Amino acid sequence: MIKINENFMNLQDSYLFSTIAKKVAEYTEKNPDKKVIKLGIGDVTRPIVPAVIRAMKKAVEEQGTQEGFRGYGPEQGYDFLRKAIVENDYKSRGIEIEEDEIFVSDGAKCDCGNIVDIFAQDNKVAITDPVYPVYLDTNVMSGRSGKWDEDKNIYENIVYLPVTAQNDFKPELPKEKVDMIYLCFPNNPTGTVLDKKELKKWIEYAKENKAVILYDSAYEAFITEENIPHSIYEVEGAKEVAIEFRSFSKTAGFTGLRCAYVVVPKKLKGYTKKQEEISLNKLWNRRTCTKFNGVSYVVQRGAEAVYCKEGKEQIKENINYYLENAKIIKEGLEKSGYTVYGGKNSPYVWLKVPEGMTSWEFFDELLEKYNIVGTPGSGFGPHGEGYFRLTAFGTRENTIEAMERINNKY
Ligand code: MLT
Repeated sequence: MIKINENFMNLQDSYLFSTIAKKVAEYTEKNPDKKVIKLGIGDVTRPIVPAVIRAMKKAVEEQGTQEGFRGYGPEQGYDFLRKAIVENDYKSRGIEIEEDEIFVSDGAKCDCGNIVDIFAQDNKVAITDPVYPVYLDTNVMSGRSGKWDEDKNIYENIVYLPVTAQNDFKPELPKEKVDMIYLCFPNNPTGTVLDKKELKKWIEYAKENKAVILYDSAYEAFITEENIPHSIYEVEGAKEVAIEFRSFSKTAGFTGLRCAYVVVPKKLKGYTKKQEEISLNKLWNRRTCTKFNGVSYVVQRGAEAVYCKEGKEQIKENINYYLENAKIIKEGLEKSGYTVYGGKNSPYVWLKVPEGMTSWEFFDELLEKYNIVGTPGSGFGPHGEGYFRLTAFGTRENTIEAMERINNKY
């Protein structure tokens, strides 16, 4: 008899974005005449920029020649891309990261999910709340949570760190000792940021407690303010305590192409039960070689082109386009009297739902009354209740139309 991984039985319903997609599909089927504007999942709409397309076309042609053909590539990513990442994302900001600390992958979602493989089951996990559901669900799947508590809407054995308007969306350090800490800044879903001083507190906590920070900076390209760190390694001491996740998805529109990377510094150590220090870089490399055969050569050539002069300019234009959308959403909502957060250093706008309504009730109202899809805050965790997320990744036309519908009470 085949036995299942019973940790899966602890998971709640379906994955947040699948639930939303199902609800929207049902609505569209019943209302085929309605034009539904989707500002729910953070999926991009701008096409891949010409510099990237040109590089990929060249790489495709190479694959059809005897000299240019490539089979399996290095599991950790081609040297040309790791080098471009080191130079452009780190050296340019005064950060020393070595090429063998970079692991190129097919997405930050997979990386955030897969990283749990290298950590013991009895580690205590802390997440901010609300949070990108992948951090939590993958720890539930791998047995690091207890049971779901129906009354409190939380998992036992997980430390939830509230981020709400009350604490200005800045999580407080855990009151108890934790081992794995998930931080995401600019934050998904709240769109808020932390400065270096605030991040420093976390690095010190992690050092004192021999904990690891799993730092998701998938949205760093949207930072507009000067004093906000793009990488956790901009803060002293971070290389000893943090793994960083980066993605080409939101930065360069690779949600369909798939390319991302993880930085696992060689200084970063984990411990055996006997307290021996083990390099996490070595463990992640071992895991990667065993379970992954690398991102396709063509896509990695495309990712490399993100860093050429032309690529950088073209991508900047797209980022500015989305930031302008965020501004339109923020101002549109404020015009209609909503209290709004984020959207300044982030493609996400986080709003307070009208008094007396739950996040899901607001979801239904927005869908049925205005034919707009967003993401209910409570889907990101109990402290997301009463909030709602809209993404700036839609087209300009749809973004403007969505705000007109809300402003004109269409
Ligand atoms: C989101 O909407 O939160 C993200 O697009 C989901 C993801 O990146 O997987």
